[in-house]
Amino acid sequence: PAASAERGAARLRRHAASVTRARRAELNGHRSAIVWFTGLSGAGKSTLAHALEERLHRMGCRTFVLDGDNVRHGLCADLGFSDAARTENIRRAGETAKLFVEAGVIVLTAFISPFQADRRLVRALVAGADFIEVYCRCPLAVCEQRDVKGLYRRARAGEIAQFTGISSPYEAPTAAELVVDTDRHTLEASVELLWAALRERGLLA
Ligand code: PPS
Repeated sequence: PAASAERGAARLRRHAASVTRARRAELNGHRSAIVWFTGLSGAGKSTLAHALEERLHRMGCRTFVLDGDNVRHGLCADLGFSDAARTENIRRAGETAKLFVEAGVIVLTAFISPFQADRRLVRALVAGADFIEVYCRCPLAVCEQRDVKGLYRRARAGEIAQFTGISSPYEAPTAAELVVDTDRHTLEASVELLWAALRERGLLA
């Protein structure tokens, strides 16, 4: 199937769009980009992504949140949590995020995305300035204590296999554009920090 997909792809021709990304950016009044949140389950990725989206939306920005929990109900419903499944999950999430960038949207993603190599591949899909990695840093013990969904308790009890931080690895970013210590900063302070960073990068007018 891989070889036949390759042959198929070789026959495809890209259609040049007259409505370009630059024209969309001009219409929207801001550039588009991927703001890629990564971190342990319960580290606050979704909370931060949605809070930042709210802030950007109120300012008139075009935004969308792509969230692991949601995407795994549709686009990635066939994937589990083995290393290979996570890699494919992040590949699909990255390709989808890229489409949003081309559509002129600031896309905020909330996936554990535990593997450095997978995050690097997504970064390589878009131009350098268009990928902003945000590490939601929070000690495992704190995530486990929060245990918002009760998953850590179930993982410790052996009811969930390959759980990130317990029985599956998390490779922390070494060169994230931004680090948010979600156990030390309030949500409001973190959103301000992120908003200011996006502004500094010339994303917002
Ligand atoms: S990954 O690793 O990036 O492919 O994971 P992601 O798509 O972000 O999905 C993570 C959410 O799935 C739930 N869940 C698990 N997480 C980690 N390990 C295992 N085994 C697992 N099983 C289910 C969990 O609710 C994660 O949501 P968050 O929002 O991160 O807590």
